[in-house]
Amino acid sequence: MTPGGEPGESVVTVDGVSFSYEGGFEALVGVSMRVRRGEYIAIAGGNGSGKTTLAKHINGLLHPSVGRVTTCGMRTDETSVANLARKVGYVFQNPDHQLFCTTVEEEVRFGLENMDFEESESAPKAQAAMELVDIVALRDRPPFTLSLGDRRKVTIASVLAAEPEILVLDEPTTGLDHHDSEHLMSTLRALNRSGRTIVLISHDMRLVAEHVDRAVLMAAGRILVDADVGAVFSDLELLREAKLVAPPITQVAHRLAPLGVSPSTFTPSQLVQQIEVLRGGGG
Ligand SMILES: Nc1ncnc2c1ncn2[C@@H]1O[C@H](COP(=O)(O)OP(=O)(O)OP(=O)(O)O)[C@@H](O)[C@H]1O
Ligand SMILES: [Mg+2]
Repeated sequence: MTPGGEPGESVVTVDGVSFSYEGGFEALVGVSMRVRRGEYIAIAGGNGSGKTTLAKHINGLLHPSVGRVTTCGMRTDETSVANLARKVGYVFQNPDHQLFCTTVEEEVRFGLENMDFEESESAPKAQAAMELVDIVALRDRPPFTLSLGDRRKVTIASVLAAEPEILVLDEPTTGLDHHDSEHLMSTLRALNRSGRTIVLISHDMRLVAEHVDRAVLMAAGRILVDADVGAVFSDLELLREAKLVAPPITQVAHRLAPLGVSPSTFTPSQLVQQIEVLRGGGG
């Protein structure tokens, strides 16, 4: 099931966007990209490459200095942030920019109540979102007393609660341990399978390679490449230019290319499968 429309239709269109912060620093330069309904894409790049700036254009927190952004059919510079927020959920890079209620449960319900959901609706939605990210046991705790990983989970739950059509998550696994980060990634994968469009900002190339379909690499405010992850991870030079490294498995695959391993190998199971074939069909 796809929420809100046809799969494949463009839900975010960034068209020739340049953006300068106050003081004149140009953080985006001629950026154009599209996100289609139901896609799961990553925006990756080194520190300061413009990922957060681009993400904040998708939900109208920033408006282009030049060009235009259309999200779910709405021009972001002509639509209020509140109206865009019904369609695009944004998880901030820094959870402390998003937390201000006195308990976790209030925090998760806050957005819903702002969207005028009745209490009879907001309570079960909040409960479901807390269950999804496994924070039910924290519901009465003040968010600011939690660990960074748990604070991050609270912000993710508060965004998921409203069931937005598009989810934009800015480095959501930073501060999460391996278990929580895998749990979050599988939750995101399940949400994507049920039709949600996901934009994940990350410089963890292992997570991107294993979970995401398409990657947009940025450097110095520009898009270097926008292609499926297989093509992106086959090009080590391009990754270097984006100040990124291929996941360890892909680096090994490049080293094994003379033996017949495909350089666009990016998960452990793909590598094992190829080695089995090279050894003569299995065992
Ligand atoms: N409020 C601001 N005022 C001026 N310059 C800013 C502001 N916010 C960001 N910048 C600059 O814009 C550029 C892009 O920043 P942005 O936060 O989009 O990068 P990023 O790719 O998200 O980086 P990171 O990986 O560190 O999160 C950086 O050079 C940054 O210093
Ligand atoms: Mg950032």
